[in-house]
Amino acid sequence: MDRFLPRRERLLASSRPLPDFDVVTARGPWLHCADGRRIFDGSSGLICVNVGQGSPKVFSRIEKQFPRSSFGGAAVVRPHAQLELMDRLCHAVGRPQDSVALVTCGTLGVEVAVRLARNIARVRGGKQHGDILTSSLSYHGMSALTLALAGNHARRPRPEDALGLGPAFPAPYPPVHDHAVRACNASCADEVAKAIDNRGSESVAAVLLEPVNGTIGGAYVPPDGYLRRVSEICRERDVLVIHDEVLTGLWRTGTPLASDHWDGAEPDLCILSKGLGAGYTSVGAVLVSPEVAPLLHHDDADPLPAMGTMAAHPLQAAACLGVLDELETMDPDAFRARGERLGALLRTLTGLSPVQDVRGLGHLYAVELVPGRLWPLMEAAEKRGVFFYPFTGAGHPKSEGLVVAPALNSTDEDISYLTAALCDSVTALDRNG
Ligand SMILES: Cc1ncc(COP(=O)(O)O)c(C=O)c1O
Repeated sequence: MDRFLPRRERLLASSRPLPDFDVVTARGPWLHCADGRRIFDGSSGLICVNVGQGSPKVFSRIEKQFPRSSFGGAAVVRPHAQLELMDRLCHAVGRPQDSVALVTCGTLGVEVAVRLARNIARVRGGKQHGDILTSSLSYHGMSALTLALAGNHARRPRPEDALGLGPAFPAPYPPVHDHAVRACNASCADEVAKAIDNRGSESVAAVLLEPVNGTIGGAYVPPDGYLRRVSEICRERDVLVIHDEVLTGLWRTGTPLASDHWDGAEPDLCILSKGLGAGYTSVGAVLVSPEVAPLLHHDDADPLPAMGTMAAHPLQAAACLGVLDELETMDPDAFRARGERLGALLRTLTGLSPVQDVRGLGHLYAVELVPGRLWPLMEAAEKRGVFFYPFTGAGHPKSEGLVVAPALNSTDEDISYLTAALCDSVTALDRNG
């Protein structure tokens, strides 16, 4: 038998076709290849490289922290750099009074939020069961628990792997709810009320949802009033609201948090990750509102979760502080205008034969495609020097397309390049039938 496995087989990850660029330098959203080509990263990596690569601000923060201390576990040493990060983060997202748990990735953020919510529900309402309800079109991470909870059929094809959990209410998106076709009064939120009432609110600790859908359905935006109504429904029933802003948090949709687009939509707990580490470091943060956080210190509360060995990492905190420095220097008006221009240019694709729908907000858009057109379009775009995140659909019916999510500090010229290359690629496919 051969001593070495072919390299593709050794990779235990998605089997989708991956572009093979030999990148020698990466600056901002541009990848420079060994053969002299430059490629625009139209998806910010896995929708996380939000301030581009090679940031001098991130480098400077890490460089300064390195000689001070490269490790300082929270269980043994007061985590100064992490405490500074928590302050900056809470102010950056307009939740200055929140308490924070730092973790090492989005999945673990969801796991810890689930645990904290169940703890709060036990102390506040004596709830013993502590069910967590999710929507039919959702992704909350790749651990056994988060896959079991969420509505992503593609990543958990076997019903028995739901561990008896699984999604509890239909998402407010097609085909269950087509708010583009029917005028919507956000009554789809009543599905959440039904799901809680069916179990009995005494059994439900929290509703967990993505305020704007990420990669599973492809940048679906809920109808106006939906998140507010979900919050009201939960409050009336003594159920907590957890927003998974792993992908959307820190300006991806144009506002610090995606829920900021609507009044009255603030959650009790909020999970951030991708935009905080911005691809420089693996990190997650669970923010807990001042109304409920004190319950976690109550005599009847369970012990708080440990931060985890590597979540108490000063270099990680330094990188995140550098990311926040980058975000702070962005001109908010110019940033907002660039996002609106991105959306307007992408919407011109509507009507071309490969395109089914264009939707999104800020710097997060999806171009949904007619079945069978995704990989030819990815190839055509790569030839024109740009790549995107392909979503292959976990809903019913299955939708597929591209997530378009350039770095938040892309320039006007970058946006022009990206949209021109994509329009060209779609037009070429349209011509060829
Ligand atoms: C909405 C959402 N939640 C959770 C996760 C899991 O985050 P991670 O991949 O950092 O574990 C993701 C990752 O894509 C996500 O998009």
